[in-house]
Amino acid sequence: MTTSRQRNSFDRDQYFNAGAARIPAVHYGVHAYCKEFGIPLEAHVNVSGGTRFVSSQVRNGIPIERRRIENDVRGGLSELLAKAVNKGSLDNELTAQDKERLLDYLSTYGALNDKGKYVGTDRAGYASEPSVLDVEYEAQPPIPLKELLADPRSAGNLSFGETLFQQSTMMQPVGGMDAIPYAFAARLRREVQYDVRVTNIGRTDDGVRIRYAKADGSAGVAEADFCICTIPFSVLKGINADFSEQVKAGIKAFNYSSAGKVAWEAPRFWETENHIYGGISYVDSDSNLTWYPSDNFNAPKGTLVGTYNFAGQAERFAAMSWQEQYAASRASVERIHPGKGVLLDKPIAVNWMHIPYSQGAWADESPGVTHDHAQVKAILDGDGPFFFAGQHLSPMGAWMEAAIRSSHVALERVYDRVKAT
Ligand code: PHE
Repeated sequence: MTTSRQRNSFDRDQYFNAGAARIPAVHYGVHAYCKEFGIPLEAHVNVSGGTRFVSSQVRNGIPIERRRIENDVRGGLSELLAKAVNKGSLDNELTAQDKERLLDYLSTYGALNDKGKYVGTDRAGYASEPSVLDVEYEAQPPIPLKELLADPRSAGNLSFGETLFQQSTMMQPVGGMDAIPYAFAARLRREVQYDVRVTNIGRTDDGVRIRYAKADGSAGVAEADFCICTIPFSVLKGINADFSEQVKAGIKAFNYSSAGKVAWEAPRFWETENHIYGGISYVDSDSNLTWYPSDNFNAPKGTLVGTYNFAGQAERFAAMSWQEQYAASRASVERIHPGKGVLLDKPIAVNWMHIPYSQGAWADESPGVTHDHAQVKAILDGDGPFFFAGQHLSPMGAWMEAAIRSSHVALERVYDRVKAT
């Protein structure tokens, strides 16, 4: 485990969202707070045509632009489907009119020519650029579908930005995600205590008593009628707490997932040379992807997230020294942007499994993670004066919205309890 310190020396106007970095349009709970608190948002680019896909299984790892893969896959699939229709292979499914309509649809959707063939399209970009009349220009030649299918990962990479919570328009607070917690903190100034560590969660005759340790080593105590505990269960399971056996067992049953990022300060070569403005490039290494900044387009420098990895990839990263993580990240960016790795400067890495008060990136909600319903119910119903809220208690998964929705449910339970007594 990496315990050595990192010192960040980004220029003044650079920032890195080490944790949450994007807000979907449909996360109305987050948006409601941003509106209420007057937090300015800007568009966050998740998908853009010039970003790259790098796989040693496809064209030997030469970077291929997203717009090429996207349109060549679509053209290739459309051509195959048109062929099947024309051969009569789908005559059991389709009437003559359906077939005509489908062929018509595919010709537009897949950019097929009048013979139903996909021979490339300028949707995929240009091999030689248009300039003036009478000077020839040319679309990129298509990459055959069979070649693109050699690495099935592109299917997931391409459709990632179409999943409900990653669709355009994504957003981000101007200047960094911490605008949101700071806005909460400004409204809770008297209540928030910084630099304290909860050491014991106990009950009193009519409420709760929370003991904590301050940074200077002294002890503190807080008493209240109720406690809404938002400590991640990865951490809470290690704190002495007067919870029921069922709730304790439920807390222990949650798995936390790993994730990590490495960010760099760099001149914006991706904009000046490759015309990439925001979006994500993918690479078949543990570094996983490279994420371009959505803020301050065309500024001289930007923060490039050279690595954002999950689960096993992130665990293997976290087992390395900072220097090794930086080197791995740089090498992956170099594969996406040959010759540019040397331009990356001032790296900073985060391994969420090693962040003491997180001990993981988020509760794992992947299919197959099973919770005992009685335990989950006991947690959600509240345990005497204790209620629980957090991302881990919503099936939405790894999103701030999950925490907000779960907190609203917890508040309703407290309200109902107060009303009943
Ligand atoms: N919300 C996080 C993100 O967008 C984690 C996440 C990744 C959630 C992928 C769902 C899918 O990066």
